Amino acid sequence: MKRILVAYVTFAGSTVDVARAVGEEIAKSGLQVDVLPLGEVKGLEAYDGVVVGGPMIMGWHRAALGFLRKHREAFRRIPLAVFVMGMSLTQTGETSVGGVPVYVDEKLPKPPEKEGRLTLRERYARLSNYVRPILMATRPVKPASVGFFGGRLEYGRLKWWAVLFVMVIIQAPAGDRRNWTAIRSWAAGLPAALQLETPKADGLTQVA
Ligand SMILES: Cc1cc2nc3c(=O)[nH]c(=O)nc-3n(C[C@H](O)[C@H](O)[C@H](O)COP(=O)(O)O)c2cc1C
Repeated sequence: MKRILVAYVTFAGSTVDVARAVGEEIAKSGLQVDVLPLGEVKGLEAYDGVVVGGPMIMGWHRAALGFLRKHREAFRRIPLAVFVMGMSLTQTGETSVGGVPVYVDEKLPKPPEKEGRLTLRERYARLSNYVRPILMATRPVKPASVGFFGGRLEYGRLKWWAVLFVMVIIQAPAGDRRNWTAIRSWAAGLPAALQLETPKADGLTQVA
């Protein structure tokens, strides 16, 4: 049976449940799934596919980017997908970045205040600005799919500097914007996106 790793990192806790939901959806296709924090991953040799997830924390979580860089060579052999949690995304209509398809939770993007002229903050929160560093980290390999979803923000869990950054730059109200339908729908498509389904003789597809 093929084995998939869902490796995640979190800053304030909410990405953990997202990683579990992603793992559950993949497992429904009959694949064996391990859901682990990045720090507990010993190696990737045992896996046929890897999903790495983490939140935007002034850029994608540094540990997640570091993990991608560290295992860059392994991703030449093992198909990779990435998911990103965030609270601020400018509506630009982008559906791919650098040739990589990006699935965006449609409830998240906010239209710019003025058509055709983005503010500094709106430029910062463009999908391409968020995703490019991820693609740099995996170069020359490209992830098969990137998912971008609304996360959860609770000021009470944060230190003062984090609250300041979020209030000034992200300008997102506190709350839980995790869209489980969107998350699960993206995750259900991963066995196919990672090419872990094998064709059956009758032409139907079956997960190996
Ligand atoms: C210090 C800090 C920086 C953040 N930076 C961004 C950001 O640059 N863009 C964004 O969309 N969301 C940003 N967020 C929102 C988080 O990505 C979001 O709350 C996420 O769901 C947190 O996941 P976690 O609970 O697993 O840590 C930031 C949150 C914090 C606390």
